[in-house]
Amino acid sequence: MSVDMSALEASFRQKNQSCFILGASGETGKILLQELVQRNIFSKITLIGRRQLILEDKIYESLVQEVVDFEKLEDYAAAFQGHDVGFCCLGTTKAKAGTEGFIRVDHDYVLKAAELAKAGGCSDFHLESSKGADKTSGLLYLRVKGEVEADVERLGFQRLSVYRPAVLLVDRQESRPAEWLARKFLGPMSSVFPTAMSIPIQVVARAMLANALLQPQQALEILENKAIYELGNSPKK
Ligand SMILES: NC(=O)c1ccc[n+]([C@@H]2O[C@H](COP(=O)([O-])OP(=O)(O)OC[C@H]3O[C@@H](n4cnc5c(N)ncnc54)[C@H](OP(=O)(O)O)[C@@H]3O)[C@@H](O)[C@H]2O)c1
Repeated sequence: MSVDMSALEASFRQKNQSCFILGASGETGKILLQELVQRNIFSKITLIGRRQLILEDKIYESLVQEVVDFEKLEDYAAAFQGHDVGFCCLGTTKAKAGTEGFIRVDHDYVLKAAELAKAGGCSDFHLESSKGADKTSGLLYLRVKGEVEADVERLGFQRLSVYRPAVLLVDRQESRPAEWLARKFLGPMSSVFPTAMSIPIQVVARAMLANALLQPQQALEILENKAIYELGNSPKK
């Protein structure tokens, strides 16, 4: 699929919409933020996170930051008021947070944030999930991803776009052995079979942005790795 991004961006800009990003300090989130700011397609961008981010570049000076306690998200409903579009790149790992902590972040925080956003007037929610997400899976990671997708869908957003990337190819500072192995072995393979088992993180971020500009075919759209790859590689004419 070839998309004329410049034309889409120009018409989207006319809508004067605002958005928020959850997980803007993470690997996908920070690239998404950079792209959104550079393309200047939203009239206001709010970062909702557990800590204030130091963003020194001038391009970030008009951002709004809301620091929230995810354990008491209800108390921060105001942070979720008045955004048209939400992007969610939140997540942790079982290795980092333990089983309960992983479920808390990847399911409970995401769902509560989505609920508050919906109540606050958000119509379009873009959720970064994972390849293989399946609420009936015997694997914790895939089951939790599948459950959160299903629970967010039940909230009834006008538009819910779920992205299911494969292993993210990223130079992460934090040590994640599985990703390191993936980079080592899947990286070279990705030049021959680019959508088989991995995807560069920049491509995911660009696909989320590009897709947000497009009219969805239906209220729920699920973008598997190949679709993400195609959208994220759309040439900017
Ligand atoms: N890694 C992969 O290969 C892969 C593949 C497919 C899908 N995914 C999914 O894609 C999404 C984004 O992944 P990523 O690697 O870009 O994320 P990441 O770099 O791990 O960043 C995660 C974000 O979530 C926030 N976060 C983590 N724990 C939190 C907590 N307890 N409370 C509040 N915020 C918390 C982080 O904030 P701080 O900066 O404050 O920690 C950060 O902004 C995740 O849902 C992940 O499961 C990953």
